[in-house]
Amino acid sequence: MSRVTIICGNWKMYKTIQEATEFIKTLAPLIEQSQAKVYIAVPFTAIQASADAAKGTSIVIGAQNMNEASEGAFTGEIAGKMLKDAGAQFVILGHSERRHYFNESNLQINKKIKKALQDNLQPILCVGETFGEREGNLVEPVLQQQIIEGLQDLSLKDISRLILAYEPVWAIGTGKTATPEIAQDAHKICRKVIAERFDSEIADNLSILYGGSVQPGNIAALISQPDIDGALVGGAALNAQTFSEIIHYSKTQNENREE
Ligand code: PGA
Repeated sequence: MSRVTIICGNWKMYKTIQEATEFIKTLAPLIEQSQAKVYIAVPFTAIQASADAAKGTSIVIGAQNMNEASEGAFTGEIAGKMLKDAGAQFVILGHSERRHYFNESNLQINKKIKKALQDNLQPILCVGETFGEREGNLVEPVLQQQIIEGLQDLSLKDISRLILAYEPVWAIGTGKTATPEIAQDAHKICRKVIAERFDSEIADNLSILYGGSVQPGNIAALISQPDIDGALVGGAALNAQTFSEIIHYSKTQNENREE
């Protein structure tokens, strides 16, 4: 098993170019000793400046969305190769805010994943159930459908390049974190789906991040679970000090787990 621990910040629609570069300059010295890989998904306008500011550090810069086409008359959209050109190395796809506010379907997310891989961007596929789906005992079928349809027709090699993020919709930005046990159960389901529908070795090596109100105070308990390999952090990734604490706690726990 060679799972990488990844702590990924998702800035959503926050931070100007200046705020982004200042954040990266503040964060870099705070996380020099980190064992976890540190990713930040920044707004499109800040990708180039953030990638420049992150040069020579271990921070990896990426984007939060892209269009599934190579190029074309799609006013207001952005192509994968443009993100790559600006310095992005990964892209978050299928975030629940994209699914719910912008009606993204599993089919569309699948097209975006394929395009991202072609453009050499590492996709982070987000999946997760709503509160109603959890209440209705639909966690497993919902995760299964999002994963199977999201990864449809991908080669095993491509699936091995992905990162998966489990983000229960009811925990995002609400301050309600899933308990470590609830999150572990869902991560186990995700890994089982990948193993059964695709490949068990790929499933074993796949990093699955937890997202939803992650804070310095709850990261350690979450990441000590056997199937939680990192975190996708929204609100708590907007402050460099808070984000660095999450990164440090994840390192300590991960080292303990590997002993
Ligand atoms: P949150 O967001 O940490 O603010 O809950 C997580 C996410 O949306 O990725």
